[in-house]
Amino acid sequence: MPYRMYPEMTPAILKQRAIDRAETIPSSWYVDPRMHELDLKAVMGISWQYTGSAETVAETGQVSLTEIAGQPVLILRDGTGRLRSFYNVCRHRGGPLVTQDANVKALQCKYHGWTYNLKGELRATPQMDGIEHFDKKDFCLKRISVDEWEGMLFVNLNSRHPALPSLMEGIRERITPIKLGKKKFFRRVSYKVNCNWKVYVDNYLEGYHLPYVHPTLSKMLDYRQYATEIYQHYSLQYSPFSENKNPFKTSDGEAYYYFIFPNFMLNILPGRLQTNYIIPLSAQKCLVYFDYYYDDSTAADIIEADIRYSDQVQSEDIVICEQVQKGLASNAYDRGRFSPKEEKAVHHFQSMLKYAYQDYFKNTENLSSKKNS
Ligand code: FES
Ligand SMILES: [Fe+2]
Repeated sequence: MPYRMYPEMTPAILKQRAIDRAETIPSSWYVDPRMHELDLKAVMGISWQYTGSAETVAETGQVSLTEIAGQPVLILRDGTGRLRSFYNVCRHRGGPLVTQDANVKALQCKYHGWTYNLKGELRATPQMDGIEHFDKKDFCLKRISVDEWEGMLFVNLNSRHPALPSLMEGIRERITPIKLGKKKFFRRVSYKVNCNWKVYVDNYLEGYHLPYVHPTLSKMLDYRQYATEIYQHYSLQYSPFSENKNPFKTSDGEAYYYFIFPNFMLNILPGRLQTNYIIPLSAQKCLVYFDYYYDDSTAADIIEADIRYSDQVQSEDIVICEQVQKGLASNAYDRGRFSPKEEKAVHHFQSMLKYAYQDYFKNTENLSSKKNS
């Protein structure tokens, strides 16, 4: 049974329970290196992963390089205007096609020069005369699903997946009149955090810690009206600003904090979108990208104040997340309980995580029974 390879992965722990009876996931899932491998394969490797602004591949031949679940990935715009994504891996002996973002007419491997067109078809193979039983058609680049939503790019390493728009269904309507696709990419800020990626996500998903960890932010939001809504693939934490505390100085100030399973967040205020993308680096480390997008009309001093303020909130979150990681790794902790009022979205995330593991085990079992039959 594949699940026996992982710590505390038992049917009793994987069982889904309502929030008033559920326990939090076991601490070993946050600290054990085997769980890092499982998260890459069973969670990141099968879900839509954000890579950045679609502006990076606006023109024909523009290539954007990234890494998803430890896999080298490139995204490009081909000559017909279509988005394409491939593993950045040459079919000859595994060399890289690009080593940085670039603008190209074709993809030429950096190792021995095999060349592919922008559709990923192998076109030129220097010095290969005399080879037998070799058809270039059998050596196309390996494709990856790619799509664009509201000016942002996403890829999915798994070929069986829900369509990206169905995943995001309802967000556009809910935040009207705000239009995410109209905002322009401004800056990426990255943070290395000494905690498991799930600690960071858990922390994001509740406002319970606001008065204790972010006293200033909690005064800015009207905490009495803070609400959490659960949807199929995402959750929303929503709060109006306290009177006159909206930093963008618009009359109808509201903050929307969307979490899209498993590791992507949209933090929407009237003048800006901030995305958070969480990359697991090891069992006890993650990397967080904050991408800032603003309306054309947003003034430069408001932008700088917004980024400075977010940075302060982020440092408060990093301190608590790193301390929680130590607590989870200690002898003193295994599993806890949820506040039904405050931790609905944490419970939803952890339930989805269990479904993802179960799916993965079911599929790998099916595969191995097919192989054995
Ligand atoms: S590995 Fe790409 S040409 Fe050899
Ligand atoms: Fe926080």
